[in-house]
Amino acid sequence: MTTSFAAQSVISPGRVNLLGEHVDYNDGPVLPVAIDLSMTLTFEPLDEDVLELHALDLGKTSVFRLEDLAEKVDINGDPLAHFALYPASVAWALQGAEYPISGMRAVYTSNIPIGAGLSSSAAVEVGFAQAFMALGGWQAEMMTLVKLAKKGENEYIGVNSGIMDQFACLFGRENHALYLDTKDLSWEALPLPSDVAIIVADSDISRELAGSAYNARQQACIDAVNKLREFLPGISSLRDVSVDDFEQYKDQLIREVRLRAQHVVEEIARVNKAVPLLQEGDIQGFGDLMVAGHASLRDLYEVSLPELDALVEIAIEQPGCYGARLTGAGFGGCTVNLVQEEKSAAFILALKAGYEQRTGKAAKIYPCRAAQGAHLVSEALLNF
Ligand code: GLA
Repeated sequence: MTTSFAAQSVISPGRVNLLGEHVDYNDGPVLPVAIDLSMTLTFEPLDEDVLELHALDLGKTSVFRLEDLAEKVDINGDPLAHFALYPASVAWALQGAEYPISGMRAVYTSNIPIGAGLSSSAAVEVGFAQAFMALGGWQAEMMTLVKLAKKGENEYIGVNSGIMDQFACLFGRENHALYLDTKDLSWEALPLPSDVAIIVADSDISRELAGSAYNARQQACIDAVNKLREFLPGISSLRDVSVDDFEQYKDQLIREVRLRAQHVVEEIARVNKAVPLLQEGDIQGFGDLMVAGHASLRDLYEVSLPELDALVEIAIEQPGCYGARLTGAGFGGCTVNLVQEEKSAAFILALKAGYEQRTGKAAKIYPCRAAQGAHLVSEALLNF
């Protein structure tokens, strides 16, 4: 049987981060870019208060009642499937904040690789937030949606991520990078030069965020603040520690905590240096900071892998490459490269060949553009 009906759609992008890695849970500034790899979600209202999810790429369906969200069970009383937790987490957070959400049939597909550090899950979360808002006919501040999507990921799914991904996926702007101060949530869109390509290289090593070394890194940052506070009583996060203060007191920290904190303090300084460089169009200066950021993630924060290092090392030898670094949490996933547009085809070929030669693995390469954040698109006709 074929049913046709008018439905609405949301397009919700993934993201890369150009600089400011592992600083969003330390109140630091980040520089992400929403990209034109995205999730497309088509939805229509249902009379009943149920969420009916059809994840086309996974070939999976899940149906659950909105009143059962907290129990995380589907309509048969079985535990919610993992893929369903992401839309459910947003519904749960919106419900908790007393936004009126109602039954929805949602069909979605995405070309953001899963587990590659490009925020495929945040794209789903903020895409569903937009859909619930459109369906309910209510309005919320975009930053409120970002915070609620983050709350859902932290408290419902149990992943202790910062705010960067949900922010980037919702606030993205075409041809712009985003500067977000994660302490006061002030932000700015920074134009990207039109002759610079953003090339994402997927190492093809999948990373798992939940329960991984990510939480251990966060704990090390907390330990650093607790110790440094004995000498710098005014600090509430590593954001409040200057490079000079860190130099003065770093020997008070045990080795592992010292390495982690040094990355954070210096990475925040790198972002602060990078913003004016981007504004002045000094892309080489900006790219040099990306490469320094990668070295710090490799040697101090210890979230890189030989494959990601290989991608960066090969990239920066190529003509026209301004900078390269791992992007996102690390432990696998992707690198981001800024490349002179006219050299980008040769760059892609050289990176692919070099990676295969060094690792025996096939990198997937995505030339990307800076894209608009999650938004409603004009009515689509859904057939199934
Ligand atoms: C993941 C998290 C973000 C951020 C990055 C590292 O993507 O979701 O909040 O912490 O890792 O910068």
